[in-house]
Amino acid sequence: MRSPDDDKRLAAEAAVAEVGEGMLIGLGTGSTAAHAIQAIGRAGMAIDAVATSEASARLARQVGIKVVDFARVDRVDLTIDGVDEIDDGFRAIKGAGGAMLREKIVAAASDRMVVIADGSKKVAAIGGARLPVEVVPFATAYVSAALRSMFCAVHLRDGGKTLTDNGNIVLDCMGAHTDDWDRLAGWLSTVPGVVGHGLFLSEIDAAYISALGIVTRLER
Ligand code: A5P
Repeated sequence: MRSPDDDKRLAAEAAVAEVGEGMLIGLGTGSTAAHAIQAIGRAGMAIDAVATSEASARLARQVGIKVVDFARVDRVDLTIDGVDEIDDGFRAIKGAGGAMLREKIVAAASDRMVVIADGSKKVAAIGGARLPVEVVPFATAYVSAALRSMFCAVHLRDGGKTLTDNGNIVLDCMGAHTDDWDRLAGWLSTVPGVVGHGLFLSEIDAAYISALGIVTRLER
């Protein structure tokens, strides 16, 4: 019996075929990205990697990948990451795992960013998934109030107990009062206290989507 996890693994393995000897690879975060990290480890290629989370860095080291400090890196050859939702225009929501800020930074530094997903993540229009917003703890109440003007619901993830790898809280937002995502992303970047969010509108170059065991590669 096939499971969504089989499709995650198949999409990841297809994307890992893009990894070449000597590359600097960006490692995404989440259950699908974990399949990619394991596949890269199995391939045993001479690559260096940067990780978008402490969890991915740990997994990468466990499977024998050399992880370098991203703070010393200004460009990455290829990043492979998961996604919560992606539409036909390669607009995506990420960050269910809370790693969206580092994922966005590593994606921006990457010559090529590919996302990997099972078929359930491919949608006609993004916005069904919660949009995570990373916020400096000091600004929790102020930013929550600001976000409530733009979304039907704003929830402090785990009541503020779970912090990102950057020591920040996550506000999960549902029901945006707009489908103009570029405008919303622009507005989010003007709110003091917001340091990141899960809207990836221009970063993604390609997607490997696996549904019922068949992997499709989509190029922007
Ligand atoms: C991590 O913060 C996220 O952006 C993940 O990449 C995304 O939530 C996909 O995760 P899964 O592969 O576990 O569904």
